Amino acid sequence: MISASTNIIEGSRFEAGQDISGREPKIMVCKGRTAPHACGGDTIYEGLLYEAKRLNIPVIIEHAKCGCSGACLKGPFLSLPHLGLFYHQVKEAHLPVILKETVLKGKILFPLLHLNPLQSIRGDLIWEKAGNCIMAMDNSYCMVQTAEYLINFHADESCGKCTPCRLGINQLKDLIARIVRGEAPEDAVLQMESLIWLAGQAAYCAFAGKAAHIILAVLSNFREEFEIHVREKRCPAGACKII
Ligand code: SF4
Ligand code: FES
Repeated sequence: MISASTNIIEGSRFEAGQDISGREPKIMVCKGRTAPHACGGDTIYEGLLYEAKRLNIPVIIEHAKCGCSGACLKGPFLSLPHLGLFYHQVKEAHLPVILKETVLKGKILFPLLHLNPLQSIRGDLIWEKAGNCIMAMDNSYCMVQTAEYLINFHADESCGKCTPCRLGINQLKDLIARIVRGEAPEDAVLQMESLIWLAGQAAYCAFAGKAAHIILAVLSNFREEFEIHVREKRCPAGACKII
């Protein structure tokens, strides 16, 4: 335990982290919605609670909004929303170091820092394609808005050659925007599923299926959030300004 902790310190070039939120220190731990959680996030969560108490370090420790198939390659993930960063492949031996160095002193442990442009497409969101893992920085993120961001990102990349992608992805984009605004029809989630299926099955190349797949990952892991927006015209995260 001690040697692994020491390695992390020796392998790091410490720099002071910047508190970007003005909020109290918080650590969010991934927790896939489908068991078993291959990454061991549950063990890390319990370990953090134990170590924070043992070291008497005041920090909020919670499970993050995370959808994961359990096949994640870089987990367990931690996010530290007040510093705006993610750590990956965290082991129990790292926990006292994370608490003492990052939480107390704001120092970044670079060997643990999650910075992978092939896996993440936004700094406050992890999308690990290979493991089908999606994780938001903290629980205040609306996953419908997250889907909107992801579909907008992909819609701009469609070449427009075939109809299932050109029209299907754009219809999906419009539908998600209406869900965010609280203007979607009652069967919006079913319509989303049809469009996702169409993009995956009928498009000319693999692009549309891949774009639809990430939306399916968000929808299948956070379906209740979509349904509450549609049914109750309410955003559970309090992020959408639904009139
Ligand atoms: S599926 Fe491929 S070919 Fe069809 S519009 Fe999309 S990017 Fe173009
Ligand atoms: S549940 Fe932790 S990364 Fe998959």
